[in-house]
Amino acid sequence: MFFTKGALMFRKLHEPAPGALTVYIDGAPASAEPGETVAAVLLREAEPWSRLTPVGQRPRAPYCMMGVCFDCLAEVDGVSSVQTCLKSVNDGMRVVRQIGKRRIGL
Ligand code: FES
Repeated sequence: MFFTKGALMFRKLHEPAPGALTVYIDGAPASAEPGETVAAVLLREAEPWSRLTPVGQRPRAPYCMMGVCFDCLAEVDGVSSVQTCLKSVNDGMRVVRQIGKRRIGL
C-alpha cells in the first residue's frame, strides 16, 4: 500500500530464539521474542506502518520508541490507541493497524 513489498526496513540480527511467540498483525502471524515491544515487531513487517492519520489518512510508523511521538498507535487485543512502543508482546496477541480515530466502546 505505502511501502514496497519485500523491502524490509528492519530485521533481527538473529533468528528468533527457542520459545518464540506468535503475534498476529492484521491477522497474519509474525514471530516475536519475549520482552520485545509490539512496535519492534511492526517495524520488521514489509509494511511497517502502525496507523493512518484521522484527517489525511497518511501512514505513521513507530518513530521515537519511547512513548513521546504517538506515531505507533494501534489496536492491541481490541484496545484502540495503544502506544505499541510501550507494550510488550504476548503469545497470540492480536494487533490491528489503526485506521483514523480511536474506536470507543469496542
Ligand atoms: S514510537 Fe513514539 S510514542 Fe511510540
